[in-house]
Amino acid sequence: MHHDGLPFSPACLRNQEPILTLLRRWLAPNARVLEVGSGSGQHAIHMARHLPGVRWQPSERQDSMAGLAGRIAQEGQQGLAPGAQVAPPVVLDVTEDWPAGPFEAVFTANTLHIMPAAAVPHLLAGSVQVLAAAGLLLIYGPFRYGDRHTAASNGAFDAHLRQLDPAMGVRDAEELLAEAARLGLHLQVDAAMPANNRLLVFQSSSEGRRR
Ligand SMILES: C[S@@+](CC[C@H](N)C(=O)[O-])C[C@H]1O[C@@H](n2cnc3c(N)ncnc32)[C@H](O)[C@@H]1O
Repeated sequence: MHHDGLPFSPACLRNQEPILTLLRRWLAPNARVLEVGSGSGQHAIHMARHLPGVRWQPSERQDSMAGLAGRIAQEGQQGLAPGAQVAPPVVLDVTEDWPAGPFEAVFTANTLHIMPAAAVPHLLAGSVQVLAAAGLLLIYGPFRYGDRHTAASNGAFDAHLRQLDPAMGVRDAEELLAEAARLGLHLQVDAAMPANNRLLVFQSSSEGRRR
């Protein structure tokens, strides 16, 4: 289907519009956004095409960087919303060094169940570190609540992931919220999204260590 040689995620195509709707509501004008685990880069491109003034910083781990860099090089300047920018992607593994902030928002989609459970607190702490005062952390993906999946298909997906690698798996929302609150990240909304996913929006109460 895709002849441009770039990585492509059908899930991105399905969820990009509902995610955009919420980002429109939550992002301040001209927000600087750090995206963690940008993957194919489809979200980066889509959001920058529809959010005037947004300054989007994609990122990926080194071993997945080539495809992302290819998409940003190919599409990162085309058809952007007025004043919007997509920066060249940077290398970011949440357990290692983070880029210098501040960012008004950190956004990540479908990464928490892929990164090892032990990396999730690093995602939260790193976000606190780079967020501007009252900055937002927006996390899209599947979650379970009090040990219950929101759909049987999520339960099957979780079992599949854990079989591939016991460190992967659908995360428990309440555990995530508790860890986030310890770091000064307070839940603003937990929105239902397509395919039994959620979008969690946290606001940082701290000013970020780099400010
Ligand atoms: C299922 S893909 C999602 C990609 C993209 N965000 C999307 O919505 O299509 C999971 C992503 O998580 C990233 N990831 C896994 N572990 C990570 C880590 N420790 N730090 C940063 N990203 C990580 C992977 O590189 C991969 O791009």
